[in-house]
Amino acid sequence: MGEDLFQLGRTVYEDWLLQRDVQPARPLVTLRRCRSGDAGPILALFRDTIRRVNRRDYTAAQVEAWAQPDLTVHAWSARLRDATFVVEADGQIVAFAELDPDGHIDCFFCHADWQGQGLGSLLMEHLVCEARAAGAESLYAEVSLTARPFFERKGFAVEAQQEVPVGKQRLTNFRMRRRF
Ligand SMILES: CC(C)(COP(=O)(O)OP(=O)(O)OC[C@H]1O[C@@H](n2cnc3c(N)ncnc32)[C@H](O)[C@@H]1OP(=O)(O)O)[C@@H](O)C(=O)NCCC(=O)NCCS
Repeated sequence: MGEDLFQLGRTVYEDWLLQRDVQPARPLVTLRRCRSGDAGPILALFRDTIRRVNRRDYTAAQVEAWAQPDLTVHAWSARLRDATFVVEADGQIVAFAELDPDGHIDCFFCHADWQGQGLGSLLMEHLVCEARAAGAESLYAEVSLTARPFFERKGFAVEAQQEVPVGKQRLTNFRMRRRF
């Protein structure tokens, strides 16, 4: 990018100035089972993703009903399963999923700022391993309009389209299954 001169004693030296961009440090991504204390960040992620990502497929009233603004962290904590898995990036929870022993996926969410970066794939691969190890014959879920293309990409097929009551609203989702 240029040249520079420096003098050592009576001698003048000519240096080349070279420059190379340095890639920003990649965050450390880890996957682990949830533990006490995770309920607050998970509930916040759940609501934030619904309000910022799922809003493109549902009405404002549906989004607010789904986000369950009255639900407390305590109540969410009570419903967390042992088989809830979280993905962390540099120590922050950026995705989570809940798995029942029969292969039912109850929740599957990535942080709005981390969409399309492979975290969903990471989580899904882990759920497949867990479900197989538990003896489940398939994975199945009630999948949002937003997440349907992702689940199809992961080998799930639609079994039924449903209209489910959520608060005073009715939301469209799809019962989808992936057999092993
Ligand atoms: C669905 C969701 C979890 C996917 O997570 P993600 O980290 O963005 O997914 P990935 O980056 O691992 O994508 C995996 C593949 O699916 C594809 N994909 C993901 N979302 C897609 C979309 N909306 N349309 C088309 N393809 C999509 C990706 O292109 C990628 O394809 P590739 O294998 O060719 O690279 C995420 O979009 C999300 O949080 N959605 C909102 C919450 C939600 O609706 N959850 C389900 C509740 S039932």
